[in-house]
Amino acid sequence: MTMIRRAAMTSLAASAAALAAGPARAQAYPSKSISLVVPFAAGGPTDLMARIVGERMAKELGQQFIIDNTTGAAGTIAVGKVVRAAPDGYTISIGHLGTHAANGSLYKTLTYDLLTDLEPIARLPSNPMLVVTSNLFEAKTLKDVVEYLKANPDKISGGTAGVGSASHLGALAFFAATGAKYQLVPYRGTGPAMQDLIANQIQIMVDQSSNSLPHVRAGKIRAYAVTAKARSVAAPEIPTAAETGYPIEVAIWHGLWAPKGTPPQIIARLNAAAIATMQDPDIRHRLEDLGQELPTPAEMTPAAFAAFHKAEFAKWKAILEAANVKIE
Ligand code: MLT
Repeated sequence: MTMIRRAAMTSLAASAAALAAGPARAQAYPSKSISLVVPFAAGGPTDLMARIVGERMAKELGQQFIIDNTTGAAGTIAVGKVVRAAPDGYTISIGHLGTHAANGSLYKTLTYDLLTDLEPIARLPSNPMLVVTSNLFEAKTLKDVVEYLKANPDKISGGTAGVGSASHLGALAFFAATGAKYQLVPYRGTGPAMQDLIANQIQIMVDQSSNSLPHVRAGKIRAYAVTAKARSVAAPEIPTAAETGYPIEVAIWHGLWAPKGTPPQIIARLNAAAIATMQDPDIRHRLEDLGQELPTPAEMTPAAFAAFHKAEFAKWKAILEAANVKIE
C-alpha cells in the first residue's frame, strides 16, 4: 500500500473517530476553559457585560471564561475570528446590534454572513443610551446642547467606537433627531473614549448607560437624556430624549454566538448557563443598577434569539439604507 494511501486512510479514520466522538465530546463539554471574544477595548460596556456574564456562566459550566479583547473595525475583526474558529464550543462571540446586525449592512467587504455563519446561543441584556457631555460643556438641558452645537458646528468632538458601533449609531440617531452635528472621533471602544470625555479631550458622546451611568453618578460627566421610551429605573432623574423634545429611541441589545456547526448539545449547555446567569438575583441587580433591561428566559432561547436577530438585521438594514449611511 503506497505512503499516500496509508496517510489518507489514517486521516479518514481520525475524522470518523472525531465524528463518532461528537455526541460523547458534547456530553463532556466543557472540559477546558472557554474563550469569550469581546469586539471592543477593556473597560467599556461590552467588556463589562462579558466579564459579568462570563464569570457567572463559568460557575454553571465549571470552566473558566477567558476574555479575549480583539478590537478594531467596529468589531468586524473579532467576529471574523469566531466565525473561523473550531465549532467545538471553546471560542464564542459576544456582541450587539452594531457588531452583529448594522455592520452586515455597512461593511460590504465582510468575509462572513452574520445571519448564517454563526449559531445564536442566547440573547443578553439591552442597554439604553445616554447623551452625555464633559463637565466643561456649559449647558443645562439637551436643547442647550443642541443649540450650542448648531451655533458651533466644528467646535465639538464626540467619541464613537468606529463606524457601525453602538456609539456611532447613537450619534447618527442624535444627528437625525436634532439636526445638530459634532465631529466623530473613533476609538477602540467607549471605555477609552470615556477617559477622554472625562478629561474633556472630547466633549460629547451617545453611549450605553452601563458605561456612562457610573461616571454620571460620580459627577465626572453630565447626562442630558436617555434614549428610551421611559426613564431608567436606575436613573429616574435623567429625562427621556422625547421629554426634551427630541424623539430618540435606541437600545443596544447584546447576545452570544458560536461558530456555525457547533453541536446543538453544546449550544444548549451554553444557553442554559446564560439563562441561569440572568436568573441570578445578584447579577440582575448589578445589571439593572447600570440601567440595563434583561431579556426573559423565553426571549433567550436560541430559536427566539435567532428570530429576533434576523428581524433586527432587516430593520437596521432598512434604517441605514434610508439614511444613506456609508463607510467613508
Ligand atoms: C464598547 O464596548 O466599547 C461599545 O459597545 C462600543 C460601541 O459599540 O459603542
